[in-house]
Amino acid sequence: MPTAATPVDPRLDLFAEIDRLRRERKAVILAHYYQDPDIQDLADHLGDSLELAKRARDAKDAEVILFCGVHFMAETAKIVNPSKIVLIPDVTAGCSLAEQCPADQLRAWKQKHPDHVVVMYINCSAATKAESDVICTSSNAERVIRSIPADKPILFGPDKNLGAHLMKKLGRTMDLWPGACMVHETFSAQKIAALKARHPDAKFIAHPECEDHVLLLADYVGSTSKLLEFVKTDAGRKYIVGTETGILHTMHKAAPDKELIPVPYEDRTAACQGCNSCPHMKKNTVEKIYLALRDLQPRIEMTEAMRLRALKPLERMLALG
Ligand code: 13P
Ligand code: SF4
Repeated sequence: MPTAATPVDPRLDLFAEIDRLRRERKAVILAHYYQDPDIQDLADHLGDSLELAKRARDAKDAEVILFCGVHFMAETAKIVNPSKIVLIPDVTAGCSLAEQCPADQLRAWKQKHPDHVVVMYINCSAATKAESDVICTSSNAERVIRSIPADKPILFGPDKNLGAHLMKKLGRTMDLWPGACMVHETFSAQKIAALKARHPDAKFIAHPECEDHVLLLADYVGSTSKLLEFVKTDAGRKYIVGTETGILHTMHKAAPDKELIPVPYEDRTAACQGCNSCPHMKKNTVEKIYLALRDLQPRIEMTEAMRLRALKPLERMLALG
């Protein structure tokens, strides 16, 4: 039996091996839109964080869920479907948002605001979810906030940009945790405005993890799956895409006749060859997927007590549809 330290034979056709192993292991491969094109193409299901959480929950026939995304996503799969072996190609694939709101700090914040409802963006650890009342994603955040009685004050975290966007859209005040996504935070409103001026026929579409001054320039704001749907169905022909670059691959496939321009579009320096690329998401590789299926490692594990506490706010979210 090879171990994780066993080198991969360079003559192996990794894609054929992954196909063989996924059948042998009864594995379902889930991938987020921010994964490399090769990974998106080999996945059984692609999706945004909400769609993938539902896919993981509904993976009844599989014995193994291989989650090509970041750690909080694979952890969510384990929380909602604990009887499966849940694998992640690179266990160090984290998320700047999740790192910025550890459970003990959220607990201290809650203690200062005992009458508040705690709404946490799904980009947080299981331990942080366990301290929350309800989880949301960028797809369903409006619905989740609307489900909370208007007279109830809300603590929202860890993404202050998504929180601020929701406050504006829903006309509701919330206390915001000061977290942000390291990728979406690097988008420059000035460069986007210049790009729009050069492409007056292009629509600027953006993920709500972008800062307010960037979202102010947007013709449409939505989660990854909503941005994809917009490009597919909108009557326009050209789009400046304000989110992580991986999604352009599926957008191109879904709407081959449309022109897609990533941000930042130019002025890349030697130090930053692609500031719209998430370094955490990109830790997963085809080779690591092969190794994960071969060795059934690295696995996501947590105590049952933690899982049950984290499941509650996720179930509240999923019950909203
Ligand atoms: P969605 O896929 O839910 O739009 O979220 C994007 C994200 O933050 C992934 O890290
Ligand atoms: Fe986290 Fe941002 Fe990467 Fe998404 S793109 S995984 S929010 S760091």
